[in-house]
Amino acid sequence: MNNIQITKNEIISDIKKRVEDKILENENADLLIKLINNAEDIDEAIEIAHLGNKYKKTGLNYDVRLVKASHVIKYLYKDENLSFKNKDAEITHKLIIGENYEALLNLLIEYRNRIDVIYIDPPYSKDKMGDYAKTNYNNNITRDNLLSMLYPRLVLAKQLLSDNGLIFCSIDDKNYAYVKCLFDDIFEERHFINTFVWKKNSSGKTEKDKYTVNTEYVLLYAKTAMYALEEVFKPLAEATKALYKNDDGDGRGLYRLYPLQKPRDPGPETTYDYVDNNGKVWACPPKGWRMKQSKLKELENDGRLCLTNTTLSEKAYWNERKSEGKRIDTLWDDLPENSAGTKELEEIIGKDKFDNPKPVELIKRCINVANNNAIVLDFFAGSGTTGQAVLELNKEDGGNRQFILCTLDEVTDKTPNGIAHDVTTKRLKRIMTGECYDKTNKFKWLEKNDILDDNLDVYEIGKVSDFENVDGKTPFELINEENYGVKKFNTIKEKIDWVCNNFEITEKEIEE
Ligand SMILES: C[S@@+](CC[C@H](N)C(=O)[O-])C[C@H]1O[C@@H](n2cnc3c(N)ncnc32)[C@H](O)[C@@H]1O
Repeated sequence: MNNIQITKNEIISDIKKRVEDKILENENADLLIKLINNAEDIDEAIEIAHLGNKYKKTGLNYDVRLVKASHVIKYLYKDENLSFKNKDAEITHKLIIGENYEALLNLLIEYRNRIDVIYIDPPYSKDKMGDYAKTNYNNNITRDNLLSMLYPRLVLAKQLLSDNGLIFCSIDDKNYAYVKCLFDDIFEERHFINTFVWKKNSSGKTEKDKYTVNTEYVLLYAKTAMYALEEVFKPLAEATKALYKNDDGDGRGLYRLYPLQKPRDPGPETTYDYVDNNGKVWACPPKGWRMKQSKLKELENDGRLCLTNTTLSEKAYWNERKSEGKRIDTLWDDLPENSAGTKELEEIIGKDKFDNPKPVELIKRCINVANNNAIVLDFFAGSGTTGQAVLELNKEDGGNRQFILCTLDEVTDKTPNGIAHDVTTKRLKRIMTGECYDKTNKFKWLEKNDILDDNLDVYEIGKVSDFENVDGKTPFELINEENYGVKKFNTIKEKIDWVCNNFEITEKEIEE
């Protein structure tokens, strides 16, 4: 045996070891061994062996639906019958009826890097596209699982987000771990901000062989590290409010007491005996004080120390709180539960039209983390709760948020004309104008609520070949630039340039 063959044999035995260790599959090893045996020199054999090192992917593997190019342009056209304007309203919101992958490609034309907040609530149990939860569990690579459906859409969603944009995703306990990994992959783990736990019902459905599930999750990621979160508050617990019970009658109002002892390690600047203005000595607590001596003196001189108890404490006044509430944390057990979402929708469009819409307050809490001029996108909009959340927040704080919703017109037993026609448009028309499409106004919501105003443009997705004229119409005639925030072009040349430069991306299709 010559030297080359000896080295090749060593490389091959290393490959066989990889098969034993289950790092490499048999068929791939056989192929590599054949190639190594045929290699002309050692360098080539080593390079081939390297392919075996790269082969096994670790971590979460799923089938990313393939995207291919077609010759079909998808474009948005306005449905004038469903769109409406309110007198004097300045904000125009959008609803796109159709497949969200196509909608997202179209939104890139006008909104690339411009969306401030995305909230999505993808179908995570049964759906006509498949039983997502089950396929995820077996991690069968199927084209119908939740991850492969979400992947290409999230890639586009990321391109739509502004550099300080945020994305929320509602998800249940079965799919949380998988979807978290998907988000880590696409948005990167370093841009993960929080997982919120929402208490979706108090009692929950009793299930055999397991404990009742009464929570769901909301993931929050940023596109980049440049994001900023607004302060969001939840109501203060009654027990905490009750602590504000002291009043010195000095006009500063009610206050509560906070201990001044340091809860953790003592430091040189915070370890001292404190002598108050009356000469009383307060012995240094075991772990020191919460602040330096000079700061403590400032508080005393401003009448903010309570010197009458056995331990020294600070007065915190109710009137000086930043908010009447408490800054939110990741436990969302103070929000309305799932059933509230159903009741809210029922009051607007009647009973039994859509399963499990989210409560408006849940989505308001998410959107509230961005400023009040945010552009808010929901591309699994369902009944349109995100639209209502945006409208209500604008009413409450005078904001100018704009919503863009997209949802499939899925036909179900409850919605023979499709969800978008039977639920989403109806809901938005009624709460925004106080009228139904047939001009009547008999719905319960109106008895207790003010109309939420603003305008709505409803779009559907048209398809046209990029080289064949359909019904004698070219893409240049069919596509209206005004639907993309562009002023009408003066010449056909300008229009052709614009269509050619912008619509090629809409020719992408996901292989089903
Ligand atoms: C869980 S629901 C969202 C409910 C919504 N958060 C609400 O409060 O009403 C998901 C919605 O996404 C829609 N959907 C599913 N796949 C879609 C797709 N590929 N494009 C657009 N919408 C889709 C479904 O028809 C369904 O209405």
